[in-house]
Amino acid sequence: MTQTASDLSPSAQSAIADALNQCVAETAVTTMLAQNFHWNVTGMAFGPLHAMFQEIYEDHFVAQDDLAERIKALDAHADGMLAVMLKRSKVAEHDGHTDDKTMVKMLQEAQETLAATLAAAGELAAEHGDTLTEDLCIARGQTHEKFAWMLRSHLA
Ligand SMILES: [Fe+2]
Repeated sequence: MTQTASDLSPSAQSAIADALNQCVAETAVTTMLAQNFHWNVTGMAFGPLHAMFQEIYEDHFVAQDDLAERIKALDAHADGMLAVMLKRSKVAEHDGHTDDKTMVKMLQEAQETLAATLAAAGELAAEHGDTLTEDLCIARGQTHEKFAWMLRSHLA
């Protein structure tokens, strides 16, 4: 049965919020990764890569806010500590000293990781009947798969 945020049990709210905090952490780390590469990319494809990396970090910056505010709607704590995000994120940060192809590859893998994390969070929400969180996760997962395809196409 479909449940709204306030209908969910405290344990369901907490479990879904934890999955969403994982999504926020990985989205935030990827935001910084994309902005880092936006700054430091070099080569003949500088223009389009600089622009595409910006499109990614701007999308992710909005998304991390949407995900965190869904956690608040579930009456849970949105974890905004960078150290905690980095520790739990399956996407790692990078020092930005690498070539353009490696940047594209790393961001492609980050998008695939994010798509999987968002799909899992959506599945958990669905198990609890939390259709509205599930919808947010599905939309985010689709966006990450779109970015993964765009990045992958550069390496074909
Ligand atoms: Fe910029």
